[in-house]
Amino acid sequence: MTTLTRRRWWWLLWCLVAVSALGIALYSVEPYLVGDLERNRIPLNPEVAAHYLSIAAHAIPSSLALLIGPFQFVTRIRVRYPKLHRNLGRVYLGSVVLGSITALFAATFSVSGFSVQVAFYIMTAAWLYTLVQAYRTIRQGQVQLHRIWMIRNYALTFAAVSLRIYLIIGLMLQESFLPGLTFDDVYHAAAWAALLVNVMVAEYFIIHRTLKPLARRQQVIRPPDGRVPASAGSS
Ligand code: HEM
Repeated sequence: MTTLTRRRWWWLLWCLVAVSALGIALYSVEPYLVGDLERNRIPLNPEVAAHYLSIAAHAIPSSLALLIGPFQFVTRIRVRYPKLHRNLGRVYLGSVVLGSITALFAATFSVSGFSVQVAFYIMTAAWLYTLVQAYRTIRQGQVQLHRIWMIRNYALTFAAVSLRIYLIIGLMLQESFLPGLTFDDVYHAAAWAALLVNVMVAEYFIIHRTLKPLARRQQVIRPPDGRVPASAGSS
């Protein structure tokens, strides 16, 4: 694949991610922004008055993180407007911290079932862990590692989009081929699939878009026989 074709594919993928992130963020957050209890999309726990509040407090900052994420991966923005990248990065960081703390409450109060609660707890832990690593590495000036941790982190943010796509696919399958499935079956499978598939896709990207180019560059400096050319050593 030529560099031009690779770039075109990358832009196409970026547009798909950005547009679906925008769509899901606006669609999901709107009822919580206007505080419309009637249009809440998941069943509320009748024993916990703060359940709705925890979901609203989770949905608003999480949607912001979902929206900001794609722009942080655009090299041109990062290079031309480093201050904007830093400021958006800070807002993203704050949004994920708020989104994950409130997700813990939403998961604890959830009436969606144990298996989905476990999936959300694991997602929250991974969301926070990858964020801390991304922050730690950039503070240490390790740009490539920061990029790798941010790919992992945004893959988890993007689980919100994947979950809803799988939910729609699952409900369509239920209607046409698998009438025995309940909504809960589909919801639980969608939550786990969103977590696992996104993690695998992130690792694929890390290997192909970051580690392989780095390895190729190192091979140019250090040929396969392991000898360091005089020119490379002296720079
Ligand atoms: C790793 C990241 C995330 C975790 C762990 C998480 C966790 C949760 C949990 C536990 C619930 C309640 C589900 C239930 O009771 O069945 C929930 C609901 C919700 N989350 Fe997240 N979430 C994450 C990312 C996001 C993102 C990025 C958005 C942005 C759109 C988002 C938006 C929402 C919304 C709007 C709801 C309410 C359900 C609905 O209206 O569809 N979440 N989330």
